Order: sequence, then C-alpha cells, then structure tokens
Amino acid sequence: MAASFLLLLTSVGLFLSAQAQDCSSPVGGDNMGLKGNDILLQSFPDGTKVTFACDVGYVTAGGSASITCTAGDWSSLRMTCKRKQCGAFEDVPNGNVDYSQGNEFGDKLTVTCKPGYNLVGNPNILCGNEGWMGRPPVCEVMYCHPPKTPTIGSFYPVKEEYEYREVIVFSCPDTFTLNGSKSLSCSESGVFSPAVPECVQIDCKEPVVEFGHWDSGSRGPYTYKATVTFKCDKGYRMTNSATIICGINELWEPALPKCEAVPADTTTTTKSPESTTKPTAVPADKTTTTKSPESTTKPTAAPDPNGGKRLYTGLGVAFAAIALVAIAGGLWRCGFLKRLMKKTGSGRGDACAVPTEEDEVALGKLDGAAGP
Ligand SMILES: *[C@@H]1O[C@H](CO)[C@@H](O)[C@H](O)[C@H]1NC(C)=O
Repeated sequence: MAASFLLLLTSVGLFLSAQAQDCSSPVGGDNMGLKGNDILLQSFPDGTKVTFACDVGYVTAGGSASITCTAGDWSSLRMTCKRKQCGAFEDVPNGNVDYSQGNEFGDKLTVTCKPGYNLVGNPNILCGNEGWMGRPPVCEVMYCHPPKTPTIGSFYPVKEEYEYREVIVFSCPDTFTLNGSKSLSCSESGVFSPAVPECVQIDCKEPVVEFGHWDSGSRGPYTYKATVTFKCDKGYRMTNSATIICGINELWEPALPKCEAVPADTTTTTKSPESTTKPTAVPADKTTTTKSPESTTKPTAAPDPNGGKRLYTGLGVAFAAIALVAIAGGLWRCGFLKRLMKKTGSGRGDACAVPTEEDEVALGKLDGAAGP
C-alpha cells in the first residue's frame, strides 16, 4: 500500500513537471525589450507567447518578434533591431549640412553658412526617434555699414546697410583725382574692402632736364597724368624715355629724361670757330673743355689741364716753321734768279721784283727740273 502510494506521488510529480514547467524571463537581442506588461513578470507559464519590440530609435530588421515557452524553454528569437535612419535634413539656403557623423539615431549633423552669411539658430541637430530634432538654423546675409563720408568726393549708392558683395563706387570733384580703388565691395567680414580711397589734388613739379628742352605736351600746372615730351639740346642725346607722365604720388614717371653729350666721333662739325664759342653746350661735370678750342670736337677726351697750352705751343711752332720756309724759299728764289741772270746776262737787274713773263717761264723750267 505504501509502495503504491509512493509510486502515485512520483508519477504525479513527473506529470506536473512535464506538464506545467514555467519559463523564466526571456532574454531578447540587442536594442529590444518585451512588449507591454510582460516585462514585469518573473515567470511565464508553459505555452506562454511573448513578443519583443525594438527599443526607441531602433526598428526591426526582419524576423518574428514572438517566442513561446514550451516545457520551461523559450523558442529562439528571430527578430533583430537596427538604428533608425533620419535621412536627409532640410535644405538650408546659403548653408552647408555636414553629415560626417552619420544620419542615424543618435548622430548629430552640423550646419555651416557660406561666406558672407551669418548663422542664426542652433547649428547642431540630433537624429532622434522621430527624425531630426530641432528647427534648421538660418543663414542670414551679412551686412556692411556704409564707410565714413569722405571730406572731398562721394560714393553711391548711399544706404543704411549694404548686403554682402554689394558694391559702392567713389567719385571725386573736378580737378581732384581718386587715390585708391574706385569701387569697394562689402566683404565677408562685414566691412568694405579694399580701403576707402581719397580725393587728392595732384601737382607734379616743373620738370627740368639739363641740356634738354620742352618739346610737346603739357605746359603746367601738371595735374594727374599730365604728359610732357622733351628733346635734348644740340650735341646731346636722350638716354631714357623722352616722355614723362605725372603720377599719383606727384612724381614724374618714368624718371626725368637725361641728356648726354654725344661723343666726338659721331659729330658732323669739325673745329669751327663757332663751336668754341658755345661753352654752355658742355657738361660742366664731365670735361675741362671750355678751356680749349678743340673741346667741342672732343668732349669725351680725358681731362688734361695742359692740353690747351700744348696745343698753342704746337700751333706756334708750326706757324713759325711755315713762315721760315716761305721766307727761305723766297730768299732762295731771289738768290737763284740773281745767279741765273748773271749767267744769261738777261733780266732787269732786280731779281726779287715782280717776275716778268720771261722769268716765270724760266722759273717754271727750273722748278720742274729741281722737282718739288
Ligand atoms: C595715395 O595713396 C597712397 C597710399 O595710401 C599714399 O601713400 C600716397 O601718398 C597718396 N598720394 C597722394 C598724392 O595723396
């Protein structure tokens, strides 16, 4: 009897364990949880079916979300969850959207504005469960304040504010010249650039060219861009540009012309008396030529303080020699004639008087015979 009772107990126990073994709380995959109140339960009776749902920010990537408790074991869960995608953000005019972090749940995008635009609002937007969270920022065009009104001259258009890239144009009254850029634009830093120009009165100095003279162009006053062309005096030549222009800095551009004495070899005039009477035509700094008559024909000769003296001495000696030869020749001729007349017994006695035709013939023969 006892044995049969024990057997009964055992079989009941076996039956109970086989028929009614509960399941403990099921464990799901990543980023998911039990749906509804099931999450609060500690054990689940045999045959219970539970359903999982993806966490906030995640969506099912497929597979059944439900499992069943059978004799203390859960069937295997097929569903997986993946992060939600926020997709593309709204267009931000004049801005750029940076998705470098990604565009899924929990990622953050950053909006930047193009040059010349200011960002108003929050530049960082988070990808949330319901998509991008937050309103897009706005890229507002930058403004420039007008520059200070110039003392002389004006600009247009005149406004209270100027948008990025807007241009203003300067002008000067007559007789004034704009020194700087005529037009300025509102830059991305909110100021006009380049620098504000000035209206200036340009007045170049009277150009003086040594050994040169005005040839054509302006006679002065020399305002901006006034042009003058020079010519060199006779005996001088230009070594740089003959035409100069009055520049913005009140300086002649290029440099003033230079006149340089022409070397002797290329002059057409020889030792003429008038050439020596032009001492002004000689560059004072170059030669000592005003002292000597040969000066103008040799302006580039090396300075020689004794050159003039020597020349005079030389000329004197030469002249004296010529005179001597002439006198000697005359005397010789007279003596010869006297001898000739004695020999021939002809002639009128004074051999050194004006020669007669006869004498000339005789002399011609004699000169011819004597040879030059
Ligand atoms: C023109 O502007 C430059 C640069 O600002 C300045 O150096 C120059 O003196 C100005 N010229 C005149 C004639 O004012």
